[in-house]
Amino acid sequence: MYKIKNHPVDPDYAKDANITEQQYQAWYKESLEQPDQFWAARAKQFLDWSKPWSSVNEYNFAKGETTWFKDGKLNACYNCIDRHLEKRGNQVAIIWEGDDPSEDLSITYRQLYEQVGRLSNALLAQGVKKGDRVCLYMPMIPEAAYAMLACARIGAVHSVVFGGFSPESLKDRILDSDCQVLITADEGLRGGRSIALKENADKALAHCPDVRCCLVVKRTGAEIGWNNSRDVWYHDAVADMSPDCPAQEMDSEDPMFILYTSGSTGKPKGVMHTTAGYMLGSAMTHRYILDYREGDIFWCTADVGWITGHSYIVYGPLANGATTLMFEGVPTYPDASRCWQVVDKHKVNTFYTAPTAIRALMSQGNEPVKKFSRASLRLLGTVGEPINPEAWEWYYNVVGETRCPVVDTWWQTETGSIMIAPMPGAHTLKPGSATVPFFGIEPALVDNDGNELQGACEGNLVIKRSWPSQIRSVYGDHQRMIDTYFSTYPDTYFTGDGARRDEDGYYWITGRVDDVLNVSGHRMGTAEIESALVLHDAVAEAAVVGYPHDIKGQGVYAYVTLMAGIQPSEALRKELLDAVSKEIGAIAKPDLIQWAPGLPKTRSGKIMRRILRKIAANELDTLGDTSTLADPAVVNELIDNRANR
Ligand code: PRX
Repeated sequence: MYKIKNHPVDPDYAKDANITEQQYQAWYKESLEQPDQFWAARAKQFLDWSKPWSSVNEYNFAKGETTWFKDGKLNACYNCIDRHLEKRGNQVAIIWEGDDPSEDLSITYRQLYEQVGRLSNALLAQGVKKGDRVCLYMPMIPEAAYAMLACARIGAVHSVVFGGFSPESLKDRILDSDCQVLITADEGLRGGRSIALKENADKALAHCPDVRCCLVVKRTGAEIGWNNSRDVWYHDAVADMSPDCPAQEMDSEDPMFILYTSGSTGKPKGVMHTTAGYMLGSAMTHRYILDYREGDIFWCTADVGWITGHSYIVYGPLANGATTLMFEGVPTYPDASRCWQVVDKHKVNTFYTAPTAIRALMSQGNEPVKKFSRASLRLLGTVGEPINPEAWEWYYNVVGETRCPVVDTWWQTETGSIMIAPMPGAHTLKPGSATVPFFGIEPALVDNDGNELQGACEGNLVIKRSWPSQIRSVYGDHQRMIDTYFSTYPDTYFTGDGARRDEDGYYWITGRVDDVLNVSGHRMGTAEIESALVLHDAVAEAAVVGYPHDIKGQGVYAYVTLMAGIQPSEALRKELLDAVSKEIGAIAKPDLIQWAPGLPKTRSGKIMRRILRKIAANELDTLGDTSTLADPAVVNELIDNRANR
């Protein structure tokens, strides 16, 4: 067992930190005991309003109703750009670092204002109105941020779809939220390879007759298909537009964006966030947990297709007037020292990434890290999945040279911003622990019957009261939100995660307790992958589980039962992998496929996933009771023929 070493706050670091231990305690207490007073003060401090609110917070979890800053008026884009112009017009807002190390750009707040204004006017000219949904299927280029901000500026609701998703997934998301405008690029570039975004978009749009306009950014200049009645070059659309576009006055609770995420059943859900609470959550956590200080260069390596990219590349940093770095490429291209080369080149102070990236870099040894000084780094962060203490220590010792605290931040698409994490000047760090709740967050652990557990214990992680950046709805299916998050345990938000709490009150996230996988920090539902597999004619049945994977955290393990008379083959294995890529995207491809003549089922026909998970993890001595299975012999057959790894 790995010995976990605590890291007390470094006084040198704490001197200039935004929050001290004492302040954390006092503010946390106030945030729970006098929430209205606490949040009203923060809403005034962090955001500019055109009209004040009439009440701070009202909520009813059972009905899925939540209002923060009722009747208040503001605009998210104004808060990210306009209000900074006077003081920071010439300060760099976005540093863009291309996939190719020779390409980069610096965009000042003034330039950002103009770019976003032009695009806002172009969208208005295309007939986009307040409340309309606009889909973004973009590479990591500045236009992705312009597009998000332009939507926010005119009150349109963006739905960003990760560029790694397949045409099929893109189509489903466009149709589900009834988007009539799509913004994409000819191609994306990642790790020296191009991604055929427009070609994928064309395949998706063939089934989306309501999309009347597709704006296309020219990124690589590749040959692409063109539909004259629908497609418009982005540069043409903005060319004659004024840089000035008034920001639409939005209500606090007006929808701001939709972001699809996977659950344990059915198709991905369109998680809906609204304006004021989301902006407050992302700005405040960026300041206190990512300890943003005036003049910092902040780099979050996520893609804007995920919530981390929304909150910590775009909205949180820009609301705080920061310089945010947006990276088009991957950490290992051209080689494993790329991140550190970028850190030195742009003098990055805070580096925020996923454990999977840390493990991948760690596997390349220390040399690539040592090639660069990393002298500008002050703080390191992780997000997306549990971090193993070995990787945490490597990050802390080798990357940060014991000088930079590591903040392990737990949160979700649905939570909008960080929920459980240390504040680097306030908390002793324990490698592998997400640490303590943010202001106003009241976590609890409950057993499977919903009884709250006390003291040091392990259970299901729930949140007992509303917080500003909380999910407001599932687009088009409000009941699904109530059923998914607010029905499992009464009067609480259920996270779907398990956690342990230690004697110091620190939380240790143990991972999902439902059928959701977390592969390289990407969240996917086992049911989605199973559906993609059974679409293939040769497949009778499929069951997908996660298994421990050194780099990815979890790998995808698929048990596949073929139709009678069909023989397994390498060619068929490849066809199945392609089928998953086509339906969902390459990120969901199974790492291992095991041909399974039968699956362990109860007498009522339910697949016993617990057993499949154990077999996949090679944990054969803890299989548990198999006597209730309809055919217990199936288990030995599966054990004897485990997939090669
Ligand atoms: O299981 C938890 C894991 O990621 C899930 C949320 O995934 P998603 O909505 O895609 O958002 C990821 C980025 C915020 C959670 O239910 N997770 C996220 N952060 C951590 C984590 N697990 C352990 N430790 C974390 N720091």
